[in-house]
Amino acid sequence: MSILTHRPRRMRKHENIRKLVRENILTTSDLIYPIFIVNGKKQRQNIDSMPSIYRISIDELMLEVEELTKLGILAIALFPSVEENKKSLDAKESFNDNGLLQQAVRELKKNHPQISVITDIALDPFTTHGQDGLIDNNGYVLNDKTVQVLVKQALSHAKAGADIIAPSDMMDGRIGIIRQALEENNFIHTNILAYSAKYASNYYGPFRDAIGSAKNLGKDSKQTYQIDPANSNESLREVELDINQGADIVMIKPGTPYLDIIYRVKQTFGLPTFAYHVSGEYAMLKAAAQNNWINEEEVVLENLMSFKRAGADAILSYYSKQAALWLKNKNNT
Ligand code: PBG
Repeated sequence: MSILTHRPRRMRKHENIRKLVRENILTTSDLIYPIFIVNGKKQRQNIDSMPSIYRISIDELMLEVEELTKLGILAIALFPSVEENKKSLDAKESFNDNGLLQQAVRELKKNHPQISVITDIALDPFTTHGQDGLIDNNGYVLNDKTVQVLVKQALSHAKAGADIIAPSDMMDGRIGIIRQALEENNFIHTNILAYSAKYASNYYGPFRDAIGSAKNLGKDSKQTYQIDPANSNESLREVELDINQGADIVMIKPGTPYLDIIYRVKQTFGLPTFAYHVSGEYAMLKAAAQNNWINEEEVVLENLMSFKRAGADAILSYYSKQAALWLKNKNNT
């Protein structure tokens, strides 16, 4: 006769009990959808390395957002893909009040004020070399000169009506300087989502195809400003600096390979913490799914749940729209 006092399986014997003791849930309000935008009308361009993700024009964006709202998505993150002739060494298109991104934000605020708009603060879509900042003669990304441009970009996004601006550039000191500029210009309600722990990752490849910076960047890396994937304590220091400089939310990026960082950041600071399930992660799942090597729905929802378990409050994912649909159908059954 066995006299086991602890039989953890008792808590797993029935779906009702499993649900009663479930520690985390994934809901559509946890999901943020990144969207690539391009100039023009009725544009819906494929991105080879990201099946089912498109670069869309502003008119299409309006239709897309209608659909997303019906699915319960609360926020989107916009990334512009601009023509080569708009790129320059000084990246001045980044703060053009009539630029593609700024126009898109204004249209969204006019037609779809219900959706929160997150905009990316970084220069890579606008530089001829694909780096996130201005470079010197040796190709080194200049910190303080770059921050001056990022401030102009941030103000231009805030003026267009962005709800949350998200510096993803990893320059030192930019959160404080941007926060100060927002205050001085009376944008006191604009949230800052700081990409505080952004790694020099190889998982960004498909994104760079999407915004057209891959060929410009060539073999150059972003290792002089993004964090070394071998480091973890360094991320905590970065997060602390950004919190002290006025960040409202911090971001860890990429996601799945950095769940330990999400966990440590959330445990240490308890601040709203977002994570980015990046393009390379999406591409890997999509490729396996297209080969019928995995059950796409179950694997993706499990993957997204792992972010919640690690401590993320919200997740930027190219799967957000699809996951919202899956969650909706699941809840209806
Ligand atoms: C650059 C930026 C990148 C991503 C978001 N903003 C790529 C990079 O640092 O080269 C990557 C997102 C993804 O891979 O999905 N400012």
